Amino acid sequence: MSARKRVGVLISGRGSNLSALIDACNKPNYPAEIVLVISNRQDVPGLKIALKSGIPMMVVDHKKYADRETFQVDLDAALRHANVDLICNAGFMRLLTEKFVEDWRDRQLNIHPSLLPAFKGLHTHERALEAGVKLSGCTAHFVRTEMDAGPIIAQAAVPVLPGDSADDLAKRVLEAEHKLYPLALKLVASGEASVKKEQVVFKNRQTVHGPYIAPWFD
Ligand code: GRF
Repeated sequence: MSARKRVGVLISGRGSNLSALIDACNKPNYPAEIVLVISNRQDVPGLKIALKSGIPMMVVDHKKYADRETFQVDLDAALRHANVDLICNAGFMRLLTEKFVEDWRDRQLNIHPSLLPAFKGLHTHERALEAGVKLSGCTAHFVRTEMDAGPIIAQAAVPVLPGDSADDLAKRVLEAEHKLYPLALKLVASGEASVKKEQVVFKNRQTVHGPYIAPWFD
């Protein structure tokens, strides 16, 4: 197998997607390894998850910087120092500058708890319920400067059930996120998925759509 891609994970809080990525990276033949976890907040649960797994971690506290630019210079330096190939944003709650996004173009992934382009931004589940959609889900995509936009790598759909609260729906979507993000990282890290003309294309296989996760390969 070719060398595993070195991944830096950016977090701001709970870290359940980080945990799912760590579990995936611990599986044999997974094409990526997490070499650094960076949080922009002190004392968040995600940092404890990294600590428990023995993954190097650090806090780059945005509040200690005068502006976004200087914060991101340090973020970038830490990622480069760790020889990171790919960045996974996993509940990272800071908007990134155009320079940072362009410097890591097609090498930075994000997961969002809706079927993009629907419901960008916060409070996705409340808004999905208000809109009365019958399917919701999550999207793994490459990062662009526009928030929650960029070439879509994979999506998973879940049903919205009668009587769902936003918390019920969030829980169901989160379970799907924990399957989808490791799949998306695998597709990118293995070289299977890449960006052509702002669309994600797959190298060796045609995209086969399954009922809930697309692309559905295995
Ligand atoms: C997830 O729902 C993710 O899609 C969104 O923020 C949440 C982070 O949760 N971007 P966690 O920190 O991974 O548990």
